[in-house]
Amino acid sequence: MKIKKAVIPAAGYGTRFLPVTKAVPKELLPIVDKPMIQYIVEEAKASGIEFVILIVNHGKEAIEDHFDINYELEDTLRKKGNNELLSLIDGLSEMIKIVSIRQKKPLGLGHAVLQAKNLIGDEPFAVVLGDDIIDSEKPCLLQMSEVYEKYGKPVIAVQKVPREDVSRYGIIKGKQAGNSIYMLEDVVEKPSPDKAPSDLAIIGRYILTPEIFEILEDTSSGAGGEIQLTDGLKVLLMKKGMIGYRFEGDRYDGGDKLGFLLANIAYAMKRPEIKDKLLECMAGYIK
Ligand code: G1P
Repeated sequence: MKIKKAVIPAAGYGTRFLPVTKAVPKELLPIVDKPMIQYIVEEAKASGIEFVILIVNHGKEAIEDHFDINYELEDTLRKKGNNELLSLIDGLSEMIKIVSIRQKKPLGLGHAVLQAKNLIGDEPFAVVLGDDIIDSEKPCLLQMSEVYEKYGKPVIAVQKVPREDVSRYGIIKGKQAGNSIYMLEDVVEKPSPDKAPSDLAIIGRYILTPEIFEILEDTSSGAGGEIQLTDGLKVLLMKKGMIGYRFEGDRYDGGDKLGFLLANIAYAMKRPEIKDKLLECMAGYIK
């Protein structure tokens, strides 16, 4: 079955980016000139997703506006004949169907995903975390959809991380069953390096089956006092099996200041009009 729906949790406070996130949603921080969440939605669309469910909280209205028509602005640009600028915004509202649901209490990622239950219904779906920006030739979610179609089991994206960083991630335990395929036996949320079952971290792309909702309804709070998606995955993998997939592509942690800056530099380097000057500035430590 094709994956057509994606849940994008966007209900965090973005505290790692304060003060900018006091009034601006973290998801709208720019990588070069596009908000982070636009990269995510574009990846979803390029992977065959037709319907996006944003999980938001109070103060995230600007994300909805970003994917809506701004009639006044578009009309002004049209009248001025500024088609180049117009082309940057006029497709955004048509790109994909987006609805948003509010997560009324900040109870964790598992709880955020649970809010999409009624809109997902009885079909497999994707969860895409806005912090993980993945630059790849074939969109990461499309790679994963193909793995799902082949194996018929939930799929989560994984990547090797340095041992000292394992406590920032969900970590998998599994048996390698192919070049980039792991049959999962367990997942642990944010273990200490001495307790981590591997150095393969869960990256924010998941293809899940609807059983996850009942499981999350029964999941009590775990690491950090939050209802963790990873704790729900633990149960889902016992029931259905689960694949850890080492995706192809470069991943940037947009939720971290350094990762965010690196993503900006990497994407700026892909812009011919910026690249040479940027290299020159970096070589001379910026002047
Ligand atoms: C979340 C998940 C974690 C995963 C990470 C990937 O953590 O809970 O399992 O490894 O995303 O970015 P967060 O970054 O929200 O703390």
